[in-house]
Amino acid sequence: MSDAELLKRQAAAQALDLVRSGDKLGLGTGSTARHFVDLLAERVKQGLDVVGVPTSEATRAQAESLGVPLSTLDEHPVLDLCVDGADEVGPDLVLVKGGGGALLREKIVASAARQMVVIADASKHVATLGKFPLPIEVVDFGVAAIRRGIDKAAKAAGCHGLLTLRRGADGHVFVTDQGHLILDGAFGSIPDPVALAANLAAVPGVVEHGLFIGLASRVILAGPGGVTVLDRT
Ligand code: A5P
Repeated sequence: MSDAELLKRQAAAQALDLVRSGDKLGLGTGSTARHFVDLLAERVKQGLDVVGVPTSEATRAQAESLGVPLSTLDEHPVLDLCVDGADEVGPDLVLVKGGGGALLREKIVASAARQMVVIADASKHVATLGKFPLPIEVVDFGVAAIRRGIDKAAKAAGCHGLLTLRRGADGHVFVTDQGHLILDGAFGSIPDPVALAANLAAVPGVVEHGLFIGLASRVILAGPGGVTVLDRT
């Protein structure tokens, strides 16, 4: 395992300590969340009684294949804990998420959880959000017009940058698990995430954006110097 993967696994292992028998768990998406599901499955094999609600079809497939019992938010609308990765962690534990394209389900699941814990390697911790392009999920109708709306909304929040329609590795337009498209906003810096989030939410055709504000209560960061835990005050 590479050094980067070992750090992700360390953060995941620390989050596992927060899981209690009987918990209903939101299961995140991405390479770091994948480590958490791996480790959780080992504990399930040893008898830990939990039920997971996956945030993507990819996580569902992984958890199913490892024997982690799964359910839905329809059966369990309130979860005890959600453990997920992030693309950036900024001040006040505001996150940028959606690099893996699962931001909509991730935000719904995180919002349903009493506690969201983010696991990441320490390189994700930034002073100002925005270096990682902000994923914005939009409907598959009138994308050119939606793009103009997003551009205006972003500029009004002090964010300037190119919006790129996401494509998969095969070159085809990327389609989310919910059948939507993603525009990635290369803003470089997001000086006011709260204003940007409000502006984007008001654009017709925007389904969700990757700014997670007030959702993460704890972030576990694993770096070469050890693990750091940040709690939202
Ligand atoms: C998935 O849509 C994302 O929100 C991921 O949680 C995020 O991209 C972090 O992924 P990694 O753990 O692979 O960096």
